[in-house]
Amino acid sequence: MLTTEQIQRFRAETPGVKNRIHLNNAGAALMPQLVIDAIQKHLQLEIEIGGYEAEALVQKEVEGFYQAMALFLNCSADNIAYAGNATDAYNRALSAIPFAEDDVIITTNNDYVSNQIAFLELQKRYGIQLIRAQDRPEGGVDVDSMRALIKKHSPKLVAVTHVPTNSGLVQPIIEIGNICAEEDIFYLVDACQSAGQMPLDVQQIKCDFLSATFRKFLRGPRGAGFLYVSNKALDLELEPLFVDLHSATWIEPDIYELRQDARRFEVWERPFALMLGSKACVEYALEIGLPNIEQRVKMLADLCRNKISAISGIRNLDKGVERCGITTYAVEKWQPDALKNKLQEHKINTSITRSAGAIIDFAEKGVDWALRVSPHYYNTEEEIDILTNILSDLIRS
Ligand SMILES: Cc1ncc(COP(=O)(O)O)c(C=O)c1O
Repeated sequence: MLTTEQIQRFRAETPGVKNRIHLNNAGAALMPQLVIDAIQKHLQLEIEIGGYEAEALVQKEVEGFYQAMALFLNCSADNIAYAGNATDAYNRALSAIPFAEDDVIITTNNDYVSNQIAFLELQKRYGIQLIRAQDRPEGGVDVDSMRALIKKHSPKLVAVTHVPTNSGLVQPIIEIGNICAEEDIFYLVDACQSAGQMPLDVQQIKCDFLSATFRKFLRGPRGAGFLYVSNKALDLELEPLFVDLHSATWIEPDIYELRQDARRFEVWERPFALMLGSKACVEYALEIGLPNIEQRVKMLADLCRNKISAISGIRNLDKGVERCGITTYAVEKWQPDALKNKLQEHKINTSITRSAGAIIDFAEKGVDWALRVSPHYYNTEEEIDILTNILSDLIRS
């Protein structure tokens, strides 16, 4: 458990907490000073001696990015690729699956909007079939429905978003991974919202691919993400559309050879300042301890749900047996942008999730939008009280 002294230290190490009550960690969390320093130091080096020359001086630290990620996910550094963002990582993985007409993808009602759009695009382009497993009445995908669908359709791919952007739900990715492993089916996990707020172990999840960004609960910079690629996917020579001179070698006029490691999923040009910032944020999270982070995030999120939904005119929308650091609310009398802006005037950062990002979930909940409040471990109980009091004034006004 994190102590009050530790929380104070984390806050002292986070410049942004002086300016804002930041409850938009599901958007982008506040970076700690050591992440900011790592980025600025490298940018300064690029300014002073040139970009390529600066890169040559930090090769060891850049290797440290892959090693930190390997520790974070419990895999080898060879299974890690840098990506510009989570969507880029996800789409590279998706583009590597050798789909043919009538192949089946099984996903959930709560998978991320851009992933759903990508599946529909594959449907249009290759004639694949898209099937969504049923939810349990209490929320979250029904593992039995998933199992039955997998047995019946023998899909080419099972794709699950661990924590949806639009609710506090945590999907049972380990149970689903066990089924995929038994049936030898490609398994792609979107861990964009879970990375940094709870432990992730790819040996337990048994996925072939796992994608995420650094800017959210990992507290890294914007414009940086990663992809985990399993040994099975590498050994099968799965390759993204397209590879370049970094991910492959042109050995004869009509022949190229793929890289052996997961960097096959990268392209040559990478922002080294952001990679070094990402390395720093992962090491910071590992030092604090993911189980500690998870415990405090869940505690603060439950506090939000209890306090905010006690205000008359506000309803908590989160479902699922296991819930995490994303909390969502239907708010009466207010329009989404006006509410978010009003909170901003009080220096409170929250975000709005709209139905276009969650059409199945929001139709079921009967809402067009939700206020999203996403605390992190560096937030305090007092900050949640301030938000609750302001929301209750706004509802009464
Ligand atoms: C669950 C989930 N997956 C993927 C993404 C996409 O991440 P990025 O914007 O880094 O591509 C998001 C962004 O909010 C998300 O919440």
